Amino acid sequence: MNKGGFSQLWLDYKKRTDNGGSVYVSKVFLSGFLQDHRIVKHALEELKSGVQTMLGVEIKVEQDMSQATLVLKRGSEKEGGVRREGYRLWETGGVLTLAAADERGLLYGVFALLRLIAMERPFQGLDLLSNPESPLRMYDHWDNMDGSIERGYSGRSFFFQDDKVLVNERTRDYARFVSSIGINGVVINNVNVKQAATWLITDRYFQEVRQLSGIFADYGIRLFLSLNFAAPLELGGPQSADPLDPKVRDWWREKMEEVFSKVPDLGGFLVKADSEGRPGPFTYGRTQADGANMLADIVKPYGGLIIWRCFVYNCTQDWRDRQTDRARAGYDSFIGQDGDYHENVILQIKNGPMDFQIREPVSPLLGGLQKTNQMLEVQVAQEYTGQQIDVCYLVPLFKEVLDFHTYCREKCDTVSDIVSGRTFGNVNTGMAAVCNTGDDANWTGNDLAAANFYGFGRLAFCHSLTADEIAEEWVRLSISNEEEVVEKIKKILLGSRGTYEKYTCPLGIGWMVTPETHYGCSVDGYEYSRWGTYHRADHKGLGVDRSRLGTGYAGQYREPNASLYDNMETCPEELLLFFHHVPYTYRLKSGKTLIQHIYDTHFEGVREVEEMIGLWESLKGKVPDPVYDGVRERFDRQLHNAKEWRDQVNAYFYRKSGIEDEQGRKIY
Ligand code: GCU
Repeated sequence: MNKGGFSQLWLDYKKRTDNGGSVYVSKVFLSGFLQDHRIVKHALEELKSGVQTMLGVEIKVEQDMSQATLVLKRGSEKEGGVRREGYRLWETGGVLTLAAADERGLLYGVFALLRLIAMERPFQGLDLLSNPESPLRMYDHWDNMDGSIERGYSGRSFFFQDDKVLVNERTRDYARFVSSIGINGVVINNVNVKQAATWLITDRYFQEVRQLSGIFADYGIRLFLSLNFAAPLELGGPQSADPLDPKVRDWWREKMEEVFSKVPDLGGFLVKADSEGRPGPFTYGRTQADGANMLADIVKPYGGLIIWRCFVYNCTQDWRDRQTDRARAGYDSFIGQDGDYHENVILQIKNGPMDFQIREPVSPLLGGLQKTNQMLEVQVAQEYTGQQIDVCYLVPLFKEVLDFHTYCREKCDTVSDIVSGRTFGNVNTGMAAVCNTGDDANWTGNDLAAANFYGFGRLAFCHSLTADEIAEEWVRLSISNEEEVVEKIKKILLGSRGTYEKYTCPLGIGWMVTPETHYGCSVDGYEYSRWGTYHRADHKGLGVDRSRLGTGYAGQYREPNASLYDNMETCPEELLLFFHHVPYTYRLKSGKTLIQHIYDTHFEGVREVEEMIGLWESLKGKVPDPVYDGVRERFDRQLHNAKEWRDQVNAYFYRKSGIEDEQGRKIY
């Protein structure tokens, strides 16, 4: 399948040890599905090629079920317990059965079967039921039409180049990769829709967008576009984007009729409005709901969704102003209209109230809203978490968010419950992640960053998978089944988030990064800026008071969370500086003072990077050379980065506080 010469990631169907799998997969019978349905056809193609190259077996499609050893059939809730897009795979009496609720489920089941072969797992006695938890499982790409990628760390876009839409072998491989982990929706263009991207909904691009959506549809993926709210003005329509202006509505109605007739598989639109300079309904004195509902009503006849982002805040703040709190903004802007949003609108909420930091509390909008479709947004692209230079496996972070109790109900109140539809019984909900891919040969820059690309999809499909299980799958599928390799790489991945957190900003305060690029340390980089991202360090202490006595942000949570965060003594320590301004001499539960904690974690963080490098070096010759060398080179850069962070953070707080390190280590 690899026609482009680039990595096949976890679909690298190289030769595997046959653990009896070939006995089952050679004779296939298909029941209840049409062989020439586009998804079924591609599922069978994938099965054939995977089995052929991993086990050296030629698959034969049988006409008579009694001859078959692998039965692919339509199942249902009653028969097999399969639900929408789900599958069940089981073995009895020497026959393997894959029952799926629909074509997507069949495709996901085929990929699950191929995973088992690739991991060299036996089929005897197998019984695996998997129904996707999040109905929508999406990757958002922040690709610009000139080929650049906002917050991209793996080369250029493979969707766009020089204001053209690209459709090639890489597109198909991408679709295969993401469908294999259960992704069913992809936004191809940046949420900041400017220039040529505004024209994606015009005949300048329909042909290519339709081709792209066709390739996606072969793999059960719906294509979405990011939309410019001011499109009427920019595309020669009325000189307004007021959502309540009949002329504006008429313009959109006509536009959408055209768009959906030209690109019928389109899933809908993602909208960033009234945020960081993007236009929106606030310009016309209208609410976010006015804007979202106007578009939603118009795309409804086509089955379209409007995914509306909640990343709304004042990005022209005065740093002297201690009352305005960016963390409050999302909740304050959206909570008032809970229940006003129409059924095909989904509010897409970033996991934290600020912006994808290494540690943030969960956004109080999740579960704060009760009568509105909600979707969780996380960032797989490592904007603030090492930019795919530093290793930072993010699945543990995503899991913490999913497991968070919002207390919006007595039962079924976690973020996982909300974004799987269990809490409110809705289907327009799910998870989206900003993707980390580009046109680098290995897709994600750092080979180890592909674990995040893989992990998000697997987790969105099955929230109960552990970070450890996902890491294990990824290593076995992508690198090696050798135990030593699996264990060591897992160790690197599973510790990496903690390590990154140790050498960067302490206890949930965030930022302290180089402005704009967001890589590397600059403690005061954003301290006197307009972005609302301050640490408020002085000679006595550090942190933002978001308690009742401060900005009141803690009060946006439901009880008991609100009180828990409000009080310095009960606030979870990893978030202490997010919620409180804390003296350097304050004693943490460990018995250490805050300042000593800062010093210690920064020394530890660098030491842990050195340990990771040692582990990696012990794998030389055991992982493919290009992977070894690529990752090794990135580790050098990570170590340099970690030392810079350690020394700058420690020096900064030593100079501010004047307090010596108890261990007398070198602080500059
Ligand atoms: C961050 C990021 C921007 C992005 C924005 C968003 O602020 O730095 O590049 O546009 O998030 O999520 O819209």
